[in-house]
Amino acid sequence: MADVRCFVVVLLLPVILATVSYDGYRTFRVTVADDDEFYFLKSLFETHPKYDVWKEARRHGDHVDVMVAPDDIDYFTVTLKHKKITFNTMIEDVGALLTTHKQEREARQPQIYYDFTTYHTLEEIEGYLNELQGNYSSQVTLFDVGTSYEGRTIRGAKLLNFYGTDPEVTDLLDNIDIYYVPVVNVDGYEYTWTSDRLWRKTRSPNEGSPCVGTDPNRNWEFFWCEQGSSTLPCSDAYCGSSAFSEVEVSSTATYLQSVPNLQMFLSFHAYGQWYMTPWAHYIAPPDNYDEQLDVCNRAITALMDNNGGSVTFECGTIQSFVGK
Ligand SMILES: *[C@@H]1O[C@H](CO)[C@@H](O)[C@H](O)[C@H]1NC(C)=O
Repeated sequence: MADVRCFVVVLLLPVILATVSYDGYRTFRVTVADDDEFYFLKSLFETHPKYDVWKEARRHGDHVDVMVAPDDIDYFTVTLKHKKITFNTMIEDVGALLTTHKQEREARQPQIYYDFTTYHTLEEIEGYLNELQGNYSSQVTLFDVGTSYEGRTIRGAKLLNFYGTDPEVTDLLDNIDIYYVPVVNVDGYEYTWTSDRLWRKTRSPNEGSPCVGTDPNRNWEFFWCEQGSSTLPCSDAYCGSSAFSEVEVSSTATYLQSVPNLQMFLSFHAYGQWYMTPWAHYIAPPDNYDEQLDVCNRAITALMDNNGGSVTFECGTIQSFVGK
């Protein structure tokens, strides 16, 4: 009889939780003095996509914030010095700063109350929404916008009324309903906690490319991918394979269409201190631009009053900020 031996081979594959490191990455603030410098920098960043532009310059005297990898710092600074362009270091070591933030968070007391001075995980944000509804069941209802590519629920809170102590808020909510969706790009946001703190896009794969994700901001159908977008899947501004290719964006659009008497849609981003109004695709502003600008000016004034003027905000059309 053949001696049958069975070998059970168990391969213990190490689970690698790769975290993108920004150790040694430096962020520069570059001042744009004139047209010559403006166009020089524009073409420098277009031809070197490895320079990660956090904020573009809007006009002369404005600045560009750009993050540069350790190996590219020498070349970058020599290039700017050669052109006599003024710059300074804004963040010496992005990786070190992110580590400090992480340690500060880990050292914090367990959350007793949800605060608005720090970033929270998706789980904490959802916990907060649930608590809001539990505590104010007649004033807040939760709703689902849809399900993300990775299967997470995109959740929002609808604020119906507020018969509390603040007459201004009560009056406001007597006349309007506010639909609040803290995180639309739920997969991308989760990914910023697990793998890449500076991740921007969705997490759906791109056929034929090793790069993952689409910029949800550039995936809307209206004049899709015509201006200020990239058709390269590896770009942070990738517009996707088609308009509404991203389920997070298409379900948000569908949800918005179901909202009766919609008056305003406001999308919050994390960098720039800009309040941007339509249009993005076209230079001439829309017919009601004066009204939009008036609302914008009042909003940023209130914002700046609130932060004691320590941070300056600006109003304008998207085209006037990032067009050109
Ligand atoms: C809900 O009520 C509990 C108990 O009073 C309180 O500790 C918690 O902070 C409240 N949460 C919110 C979001 O209002």
